[in-house]
Amino acid sequence: MSAFGYRDGVLCAESVPLPEIAERHGTPCYVYSRAALLERFGAFRGALAGRDALVCYAVKANSNLAILNLFAREGAGFDIVSGGELARVIAAGGDPAKVVFSGVGKTAAEMRQALSAGISCFNVESAAELERLDEVAGSLGLRAPVALRVNPNVDPKTHPYISTGLRSNKFGVACEDALPLYLRARALRHVEIAGIACHIGSQLLDPAPAAEAADKILSLADRLAAEGIALRHLDLGGGLGIRYHDETPPTVKEYFAPLLARLAGRGEKLLVEPGRALVGNSGVLLTRIEYLKHGAEKNFAIVDAAMNDLIRPALYDAWHDILPVRSRQIDAPLYEVVGPVCESGDFLGHGRRLGVEAGDLLAVMSAGAYGMAQSSNYNSRPRAAEVVVDGEQSFVVREREQVEQLFAGEHVLP
Ligand code: LLP
Repeated sequence: MSAFGYRDGVLCAESVPLPEIAERHGTPCYVYSRAALLERFGAFRGALAGRDALVCYAVKANSNLAILNLFAREGAGFDIVSGGELARVIAAGGDPAKVVFSGVGKTAAEMRQALSAGISCFNVESAAELERLDEVAGSLGLRAPVALRVNPNVDPKTHPYISTGLRSNKFGVACEDALPLYLRARALRHVEIAGIACHIGSQLLDPAPAAEAADKILSLADRLAAEGIALRHLDLGGGLGIRYHDETPPTVKEYFAPLLARLAGRGEKLLVEPGRALVGNSGVLLTRIEYLKHGAEKNFAIVDAAMNDLIRPALYDAWHDILPVRSRQIDAPLYEVVGPVCESGDFLGHGRRLGVEAGDLLAVMSAGAYGMAQSSNYNSRPRAAEVVVDGEQSFVVREREQVEQLFAGEHVLP
């Protein structure tokens, strides 16, 4: 299903023409489809049906309260990486008892916050973190549920900045260190062993590395069982990729088939932590062309969105399709689609054939994941508005930032 398509030559989000959104809410603006978000969540639920499983949405992909609330109402759990994300989940009506907490640098304050909220599990990423967690839990008179995040040293075959399961990455505990660390955890008074976790990277297009990682995790779980350590859950992380351009990612069902085959007959609950596959293709970034600039070597379409709104092209050389909101039957030269930020790395797309005029709207596709969530105020640019479309209606789910908000907490010297 695509929630974004042309009707009478105009690109729409569900039943709402994008020019209407630009008119009402301004640009740049993130536009999400409620139907697409729910359809994607349903695809995960469907693929895992018949198994004791929990889909823990990776909040970092898009942490807007409306989106968290939508998934919470579907019964989702959440994968968080900071106290800030936990606060968002709770504010959005998410159940802390369905939250897993990943990340290599949890502070004592974050641990206290998560313990007091009663989260389901800490995915512990080092021996030092385990000791700190035991101490913090003890100081609160609590026991912290833990899983060790194991680094299986598997190449996920994705962009180096988003691969996390290699020995050279900072994430997790090496396979060979896991057993002794579990034995240590068992000896600690204020932690309680709940499971095992693993996440090898993002934008995975091949299910094989995930299956290879699962094999290592399952054999570790079996070794733990032999030591008398029974796990309640196996957390296989997120990572399923989406189509940005011409990729052919596996469907959710295809991705999980080899994993579920390996889990057949096992009693542990399955946790997964998808982010991008739930929200990536459920949103676009709507932007307006301010100027066209034709040159001897290159043509530029200068738009009102920039690298501060969507940093993926600048940071990972990522491709996002860029579509004219109204198709015009005019000459379509190649354009560099760039923003107003003072950096040559400020581009949204290179060499795009676009039949457009100044003032036209463009939709930067597949921008629902790691778009708004990675936005900044660079160049003192207020962050974009966010809108969710539901059928024929649209709702502002985050207001456009005002310039005054940007420096409200700043002070000049006396
Ligand atoms: N679980 C853990 C522990 C993670 O580190 C991540 C993502 C996920 C789950 C969700 O992965 P997903 O299903 O979204 O692939 N900013 C980058 C992506 C960074 C991913 C970081 N970790 C991008 O824009 O491509």
